[in-house]
Amino acid sequence: MCGIVGYVGFRNADEVAISALRRLEYRGYDSWGVAIAKDGEIVVKKNVGAIGDIKDFSLGGGKIGLGHTRWATHGKPSEINAHPHLDCKGRIAVVHNGIISNFRSLRERLENEGHTFRSETDTEVIPHLIESWVERGEDFADAVMKTAEELQGSYAFVAMKADDARLVAVRYKSPLVLGVGDGEFFLASDIPAMLEYTNRVVYLDDGESVIVSKDGYRILKNGVEVEKGIEIVPWSIEDAEKGGYEHFMLKEIHENPRVVEDTLLEYLGEDIEIDSRIFAGISDILFVACGTSFHACLIGKYLIEELAGIPVRVEYASEFNYSNPPLSRTLVVGITQSGETADTLEAMRKAKKLGMRVLAITNVLGSTATRLADHVIYTRAGPEIGVAATKTFIAQLTVLYLIAAKISNLPPKEIEELLNELRSIPQKIRQILDMEDEISSISETFAGYENMMYVGRGIGYPIALEGALKLKEISYIHAEGYPAGELKHGPFALLGEKTPVVACIVRDKTYDSMLGNIKEIKARESPVIAVANEEDDEIEKFVDYTIRVPSTNPILTPLTYSVALQLFAYYVARLRGCEIDKPRNLAKSVTVE
Ligand code: G6P
Repeated sequence: MCGIVGYVGFRNADEVAISALRRLEYRGYDSWGVAIAKDGEIVVKKNVGAIGDIKDFSLGGGKIGLGHTRWATHGKPSEINAHPHLDCKGRIAVVHNGIISNFRSLRERLENEGHTFRSETDTEVIPHLIESWVERGEDFADAVMKTAEELQGSYAFVAMKADDARLVAVRYKSPLVLGVGDGEFFLASDIPAMLEYTNRVVYLDDGESVIVSKDGYRILKNGVEVEKGIEIVPWSIEDAEKGGYEHFMLKEIHENPRVVEDTLLEYLGEDIEIDSRIFAGISDILFVACGTSFHACLIGKYLIEELAGIPVRVEYASEFNYSNPPLSRTLVVGITQSGETADTLEAMRKAKKLGMRVLAITNVLGSTATRLADHVIYTRAGPEIGVAATKTFIAQLTVLYLIAAKISNLPPKEIEELLNELRSIPQKIRQILDMEDEISSISETFAGYENMMYVGRGIGYPIALEGALKLKEISYIHAEGYPAGELKHGPFALLGEKTPVVACIVRDKTYDSMLGNIKEIKARESPVIAVANEEDDEIEKFVDYTIRVPSTNPILTPLTYSVALQLFAYYVARLRGCEIDKPRNLAKSVTVE
C-alpha cells in the first residue's frame, strides 16, 4: 500500500520525509521517492528497492517537501514509475495513494492537449491536470481543488509547487492525516509517519482538502472552510504501525471491506472491465495454486461452473507438476497472492510449455507470475504482512466473482442482481467486524481444544477448508476441513466431546442435508458452532453456538463467512498466546518447492 508524506515547517524537509517514510515501511513498498522545493526549484530523488541504511540523505534541505513509498499497482516498480510525479515543466510535484479509475481518458485528453507523460502510472495525470489549471490562471490551491473534481476512484494526494510555500492535499476514500506541530505541519497516510514529531492530529474525511503552510492550515469541503478538532494520539510508534491493532493479521482482517471496494473500483464500472480475450475460445479452466489461494480456486470452480457452465479443474500446484494433463483449449489460471510461490510458478511454466494459455491472478505487480503469464489480473488488497492470508483471499474471491460474472451465460438481469449484491458486500463485512466481541467471546470456549473439524457442503465446503487452515496455521490446533457428506466415511470415528465442529451452513440446496449432518454430529456429542445466515431462525435449536452473518445471495457467502472464521481463528490463537503474525515453521512466500 503506498505511503504518502508531506512536510512544511522549519526543519529540513528531505530529512523529515525520509524518516517519515521509514516509519511507513511496514506498509510494504517496492520503490520510494522524495521531492523538496528550494529556491523556486523542485529537486527529486527516486529509487527502486528499500530505503535501507541510506545515511545523510540530502536533497539540499528545503523546508517544504513530499515523500512516497510505492507499492506498484499501475506500472511496474521502476524509478520512472516511483513518486513524486511532476508536470511537464517540473514545477508541480505530487504523491498519491489510491487508484484513479478514469486515468486513461484523462491521460488521453491531456496528451491531446500537448502534455508529455513519462510514467505508466495513473498518478501522473494529477500534476498534469494541476498544471493545466494553473496555466489557465488558477491559483495553485484552486487548481488542486479543480483537479480533484475531475478524478474518479480513490485518492489521497499531496501537491507542491516550486514557487509556492503551501502544500495542498485532498482525500477521497484513501487515508490522510494532518499532523499539527509548532510552526510545522505534516501530512501522511498513516500516523506513524509523524509520531516522532507530533501526536496532535486532524483526521481528514472523504471530500476534504487541506491547504497547509508553515503558519497554519485551512480545511475545506466543497469550497467551504470547515472546523475540525485536533486529536491526541495515545500510541507508541510500534502500536501505530499496526494502526492501533494488536497484530497485523487483525488489521488486515479489518481491511477486508476496503479491499473488496478497491477491487470492485478497479474492475467494475458500468461493465466488468476484464479483458474478454483472456477467455475467448477456451474449452475449460484449470486452476493451480497452493495454500489459501488453492481454496480460492475451489470457490472459483464452484462459481464458474455455476454461473458460466464451463468445466473447471483445480489442482494443488505441487501435484500438477507430476501429472500429465490432457491437452486442449484449457485456460490455466495460477492464483498466487505473492506471485512468487515456487510450486505455482512451476505449474504455470509447465502449462506454458504444454502450449496452454496462462492467466495469473496475483496481488503483486511485476512479480514472477506476472512475467510468466499471458494475461494478468491483479487483486487490489495492498501488501499483506501477516503470514496467514486474510484480505488477499477475500480480494482473490472478489476477482473470481467478477470473472465468473464476465463469462457467465446467465441472463444479464440475474448477473446485474448478483453484481449489485456484490457491491453491498463491503457493508456486510463491516457488520461482521462489528460482531468482533461476540466472536471473540465464542472463541474463549474453544481455545482449549486440541482438535477441531470444519464441515460444509457445496460452496460451504471450501469455506470450511479455509476456516480450518486459518485455525491450524495460527493457533496450532489440529483442524480439518471436510465435506459434511464424507463424515460418515471416516471422521465420525474422531467425533466426541473433545472434538468441536464448525458447521458452515448455507441457505441453499445443501441446507437440509447440512442440518441432518449437524444432528448426526450432535448425537456424537461434539460441541457445534454454526456459521449461518442471520435470517436462519432454525439453526440455533440444533447447535451450541451460532455466528450469525448478514444475509446475502448464498453464492456470495464465502466473502462473509470467511471473514467471520478469520476473526474466530484470530481470537482462538490470541487466547493461546500464539505468535499470530509469524506462526512457527511457516513463511509468507514459499519460494522453494
Ligand atoms: C504460504 C503462505 C499462505 C499462502 C501460500 C500460497 O504457505 O503462508 O498464506 O496461502 O503460501 O501463497 P501465494 O502467495 O502463492 O498465494
